[in-house]
Amino acid sequence: MAWHTETAFHPDCPHYLLLSCRRGEPGAYTLLASSNDAVEQLDREALQILAQPRFHTRPDESFLAPGSVGAFGPEMAVINAMGGSWKFTYDQQLMEGLDPEAEQALQQLQRAIDQVTQRIELVAGDLLVIDNHVAVHGRSPFTARFDGTDRWLQRTFVVDDLASITGEVVDNIITTRF
Ligand SMILES: [Fe+2]
Repeated sequence: MAWHTETAFHPDCPHYLLLSCRRGEPGAYTLLASSNDAVEQLDREALQILAQPRFHTRPDESFLAPGSVGAFGPEMAVINAMGGSWKFTYDQQLMEGLDPEAEQALQQLQRAIDQVTQRIELVAGDLLVIDNHVAVHGRSPFTARFDGTDRWLQRTFVVDDLASITGEVVDNIITTRF
């Protein structure tokens, strides 16, 4: 699965992502990369470009009706300084640079992420908490059997304050129309 910030397209993307492993798969790894580690691999020019609103991204298929393609959202930066850390909003598959330099900076960022990747093999009972502001994640490929015994993760999104959400909130369900 391609590298991403969880729901990078969303104006209220979660601060934390919880991945609860109900069933593991030997050899299938959850991949993590720290934004601070990745930034250290970037040259100054790429860092400056990635901090400018020269990118856009769109919703992934799990948020769309079958067969539809999501529209690109507003122009955005990939990297923002945040209290001594670097906040990432990135999607390897769905994000595009708006000019050739921005595209090249995205490619350099992906190479940086590849250099600082950490792998975790989750097993049943594990709960992985990812700070979605300062880490991007993905997973290694595996072949699904579709027989009821495949790897099974449940995900939960955590926002800091439901009162600050721009979309419609009923109980703990956030509805945002695009
Ligand atoms: Fe994810």
